[in-house]
Amino acid sequence: MNRRVSLPMVALLSILGACLAYVVTAEYLAPALRASTAAAPAPALEAAGPAESADAAALVQQGAYLARIGNCAQCHTAAGGAPYAGGGALNTPFGKVYGSNLTPHLQAGIGRWNAADFWRAMHEGLAPDGRVLNPAFPYTSFTHLQRHDSDALFAYLRSLPPADTPSRPHSLPWPLGSQTALSAWRMLHFRVADTDSAAKTQPVGPAHTAPQTAVSLARGAYLVQGLGHCAECHTPRNALGGLRSAAAWRGALMPDGQWYAPALNDPLEAGMSGWSVADIATLLTHGQHAEAYMAGPMAEVVRYSTQYLTPEDAQSMALYLQMLAPPSPTASSKAASPVTTSGVTARPKDFALGERLYENHCAQCHGKSGEGVADAYPALAGNRAVLMRDTHNLVQVVLHGGYGPSTAGKPQPHGMPPYQLTLNDAEVAAVLSFIRNAWGQSAAPLSEFDINTMRNRPAP
Ligand code: HEC
Ligand code: HEC
Ligand code: HEC
Repeated sequence: MNRRVSLPMVALLSILGACLAYVVTAEYLAPALRASTAAAPAPALEAAGPAESADAAALVQQGAYLARIGNCAQCHTAAGGAPYAGGGALNTPFGKVYGSNLTPHLQAGIGRWNAADFWRAMHEGLAPDGRVLNPAFPYTSFTHLQRHDSDALFAYLRSLPPADTPSRPHSLPWPLGSQTALSAWRMLHFRVADTDSAAKTQPVGPAHTAPQTAVSLARGAYLVQGLGHCAECHTPRNALGGLRSAAAWRGALMPDGQWYAPALNDPLEAGMSGWSVADIATLLTHGQHAEAYMAGPMAEVVRYSTQYLTPEDAQSMALYLQMLAPPSPTASSKAASPVTTSGVTARPKDFALGERLYENHCAQCHGKSGEGVADAYPALAGNRAVLMRDTHNLVQVVLHGGYGPSTAGKPQPHGMPPYQLTLNDAEVAAVLSFIRNAWGQSAAPLSEFDINTMRNRPAP
């Protein structure tokens, strides 16, 4: 986030916020009031005939599947807490926000909501009392959801055991959590999607697309843009945290400044135009394929969400991702200049230290020539994740190590050890600069300073 741009804007919002300070007070007091009310069980479901109850069960099951694709549980479950009882902390550039209790508890959860209330929250980002919801709840994407899918999600949430955990108040510096600031944000950055016409028209696709492919492509677009909320990380934001629709899919540093979600429309980053649909589907469901290994926040997306895609939905999502990127790499960004990311010119001799470190610490897994080991360790030679202009993910992986997600297709992924205690800043810079310039490849080296800034941030 660019603080210099955001400050005047934030100041403007502060003035607006001051006018309605009482709203803020009400907002902060509400959860406390809710917490003090005695717990009460949710109303029992009405008795239904066998056919109706079979329909109801199917709806709940459909909702459970959709909740996976939307990854609702990750944000709405606290570490060690009851599922969907709220409390998952989210770091935004403006402060901490917490997913709320979505169980059917009458006071603590959404037990008093009906399907229309729920649809309004998902589609318009508004609570039943008209309160504007915080956009850390990705309704900017969920607005694309169709009503029948919203109803299925609601039926599923109604089927959960009610939990009396009160939703945690957000810790946002005043006035950013105020309704005034949120309304202003919503006015600037949110459009309610037209889901009626979206259901009737097919999305973009080559004119000659076969009808069956077009249906699958439409489904893929619906999942990626809507429930999958992929844009929330992969599309850059402006200073106020609004998605820059003009720069859709162009890649973005995540709000905590630790991981970069690469561009889904650039074959040099995470664009998938050069991959087969089957391979993309495997990457989404297994978390790794060929030299692409999902790491960090993306590994979480696979762990909680995309590994559960049905084969048909994985195929549809893959088809849409394949179509997002132009066919071939653009020559312009291919060759990086011999300047470090912080602007210091690097000399070839710098790679000697890196090469030695690589042989001692990395070659046993990634191979003497960076060739990797199929199905175990990613190849580093020819790996676009290694050569990408943004180097945040490389530093994260080497400092903190990591495991891919355990999935049905890859139950026991291999791990990468952390090097934060073994290698100092200069050494991490040297080994990363080496792998970016070994085996005939060339990309800007990293400097000691690049590593230092990242090391001093709290661990992801
Ligand atoms: C990236 C994190 C994130 C994901 C993913 C997410 N939510 Fe949320 N959600 C939040 C946050 C944060 C809030 C609190 C917003 C507020 O208080 O203004 C919230 C609020 C809500 C609310 C309003 C609840 C209330 O009491 O006002 C509903 C309903 C909701 N989410 C449903 C869902 C569903 C259904 C899914 C999955 C399809 C989902 N959310 C996925 C973060 C998330
Ligand atoms: C919470 C943020 C977040 C969300 C949501 C998210 N991504 Fe990612 N994604 C990342 C980050 C960070 C990376 C870089 C780490 C990596 O390469 O695994 C990444 C990497 C990727 C890659 C490149 C993998 C590789 O190694 O080449 C693909 C493809 C991808 N994401 C697709 C998606 C799709 C499709 C969705 C929606 C279903 C999605 N992402 C949702 C953060 C996110
Ligand atoms: C014990 C085996 C092992 C060792 C030793 C090891 N790695 Fe890794 N490395 C892995 C595994 C496994 C992954 C995939 C991790 C994941 O999926 O999150 C990985 C991932 C990576 C990635 C990200 C690749 C991608 O496609 O996203 C880089 C870069 C990397 N390692 C560099 C290094 C460097 C540099 C060293 C030495 C300092 C090293 N590794 C040592 C096993 C290892």
